[in-house]
Amino acid sequence: MDILFVGDVVGSPGREMIKEYLPALKRKYRPHLTIVNGENAAGGRGITEQIYKQFLEAGANAVTLGNHSWDNKDIFEFIDNAKYLVRPANFPENTPGNGLIFIRMNSLEIAVINLQGRTFMPPLDCPFKKVDELTAIAKKRTNIIFVDFHAEATSEKQALGWYVDGQVSAVIGTHTHVQTADHRILPNGTAYLTDVGMTGPYDGILGMEREAVIKKFITALPTRFEVPKTGRKQLSACLINIDNQSGKALNIKTIRINDDQPMFEE
Ligand SMILES: [Fe+2]
Ligand SMILES: [Fe+2]
Repeated sequence: MDILFVGDVVGSPGREMIKEYLPALKRKYRPHLTIVNGENAAGGRGITEQIYKQFLEAGANAVTLGNHSWDNKDIFEFIDNAKYLVRPANFPENTPGNGLIFIRMNSLEIAVINLQGRTFMPPLDCPFKKVDELTAIAKKRTNIIFVDFHAEATSEKQALGWYVDGQVSAVIGTHTHVQTADHRILPNGTAYLTDVGMTGPYDGILGMEREAVIKKFITALPTRFEVPKTGRKQLSACLINIDNQSGKALNIKTIRINDDQPMFEE
């Protein structure tokens, strides 16, 4: 089976890219499951119910989150009923929402896990212990396990990838918004990519207006970052091929759509 995963959708430019390209990507690759990271989908901060539903309508089967999960208060109104929304599993106990969901596709079941890193990020429960715990639960139902590891430090992402090699089908990084070129299948069958990249403004800085970000670096003054409403856009994704029975990954490729690379895959 194939899983298509689209990285952090940022604001309205990101949502427009989903609308414009997700149906075409699905026609081209025919993935059995499509996952979108939506932590920045509402103006760069969080997600609303309307946007969550738009993603499902555009063809997503699951929507993962990250450190911006709670930035839009709308989430507390709908998270309890959002069956296909996954927030980091290592948030404190009794936090609303789920960090592990199961999706049934014909005769197959797929587990989707979201975890957040702790290096240069707010302190949370241990993602390594949590991935062990959730993998054990998931394995009772399926060998096909997808992990979105939302983390800042490349080393922490690599460490988790190697830690679960052979236990899960894929560990794909999100959060840094820049696609890395290190996609590979680890020796025991886990597909790994440090960061899948972002979907949204192409000429901003990590999806935010350049001027404000540059000003912050120069002045060190508090600065509010906004998503540029106009300008060129990009989409970043990856496609993972997985053996249905063993859950081991067989192939992973990265996908980028932008004005310099109209439809790049590697
Ligand atoms: Fe993000
Ligand atoms: Fe993030």
